[in-house]
Amino acid sequence: SSNQMWGGRFASGPDAIMEEINASIGFDKKLYAQDIRGSKAHAAMLAHQGIISAEDKDQIVAGLDTILAEIESGRFEFSRRLEDIHMNVEARLAALIGPAAGRLHTARSRNDQVALDFRLWVKEEMGRTEKALTGLISAFLDRAEEHADTVMPGFTHLQTAQPVTFGHHCMAYVEMFGRDRSRVRDAIARLDECPIGAAALAGTGFPIDRHMTAQALGFREPTRNSIDTVSDRDFALEFLSIAAIAATHLSRLAEEIVIWSTPQFGFIRLSDAFSTGSSIMPQKKNPDAAELVRAKTGRINGALIALLTVMKGLPLAYSKDMQEDKEQVFDAAESLELAIAAMTGMVRDLTVRADRMKAAAGSGYSTATDLADWLVREAGLPFRDAHHVTGRAVALAEERGCELSELPLADLQAVNPAITDRVYGVLTVEASVASRTSFGGTAPSGVRRQIAWWRERL
Ligand code: ARG
Repeated sequence: SSNQMWGGRFASGPDAIMEEINASIGFDKKLYAQDIRGSKAHAAMLAHQGIISAEDKDQIVAGLDTILAEIESGRFEFSRRLEDIHMNVEARLAALIGPAAGRLHTARSRNDQVALDFRLWVKEEMGRTEKALTGLISAFLDRAEEHADTVMPGFTHLQTAQPVTFGHHCMAYVEMFGRDRSRVRDAIARLDECPIGAAALAGTGFPIDRHMTAQALGFREPTRNSIDTVSDRDFALEFLSIAAIAATHLSRLAEEIVIWSTPQFGFIRLSDAFSTGSSIMPQKKNPDAAELVRAKTGRINGALIALLTVMKGLPLAYSKDMQEDKEQVFDAAESLELAIAAMTGMVRDLTVRADRMKAAAGSGYSTATDLADWLVREAGLPFRDAHHVTGRAVALAEERGCELSELPLADLQAVNPAITDRVYGVLTVEASVASRTSFGGTAPSGVRRQIAWWRERL
């Protein structure tokens, strides 16, 4: 038999393959709560405007509440023949309340309905993302506070560069996840327009009140252009873009955790809760959670590219292609939530091996810049000359197989006679980080200033 929702001009029902490619109920049932909320607001508005009677509205609302309860208790039977969540709910409503159900879809199309449901869902999800990011930032702030003075090597090209503090390194991630959080907030503000009432694409002749539904559904205002409203999936693309950038940050952090937890680095120890053993090598403790966070980035990036590709050739307004938006967003959302949660746990639980960090910080001539700066300050050398002199000192130390601070004064003076024994005061890693007092620098005082700034904005 033909479809009961739109079957008026169809003589026979869909082919089985057609049903399979067309149906979205398998995944869009996730939108049931948003769908029912939207329908209740729409029905209330229709009644308020005198488009349907108050009695019909009351029946519709009561029926929708029953359906919500049925779905939430697992008693609702979803049907693939009814394609999607919208028609599953409406068909059940008709079974529950009869002809009044048929009045709900007045001045509405599935095109504005799905735009509404999906916007509501993405908006709620971004609220969760914002909260999760705040939790991760807060974990980093605690670790940064604890380790504002803990010296570790800073790297460029993954080669030892200059000593920094672990607190400062943590605060770099706070900045990154803070930007992600601010992108989420911006996206929520842009998304905050209500699509319902755009109808199929052209609006409607019924005297609807879109400001009323917008307000009832917690949106700032209604969307302004009905064609754009049913064509637009920018809010989903923005969520995926934000997710991809955040996942990139999580992946870089995951990579550092993987490197730092190797015996060769040994900067951190992961808690048992966030590592696994090997089935053959008894000594192993593997950073699986970090690796999986790193890998989730692939799925999330994939989701962004998939939806961009779905959207790129679509003429205005709605095309069925857009039904492919949901699985990408749902999968990316789940992956991102899980990745942030796992990372927050790892950051909170990991043990910092300050002794190992400090030992590594002092190796690789990490205070060479401090020697050059000292020559500028104390001996009045131009920086470029000081750089050259220091380079010769490093070469000498390398030849001797020792650190800069272990070169006898006579050797340093042979490189440049202006060097005095006061230079040894700047060659320690502690002196090095303490000297970096420029705004935003790694000096412990500066790290504490950053922490205070963020605590006020948590
Ligand atoms: N299941 C559809 C989607 O997810 C709902 C909108 C269908 N609209 C239509 N005109 N067929 O996009």
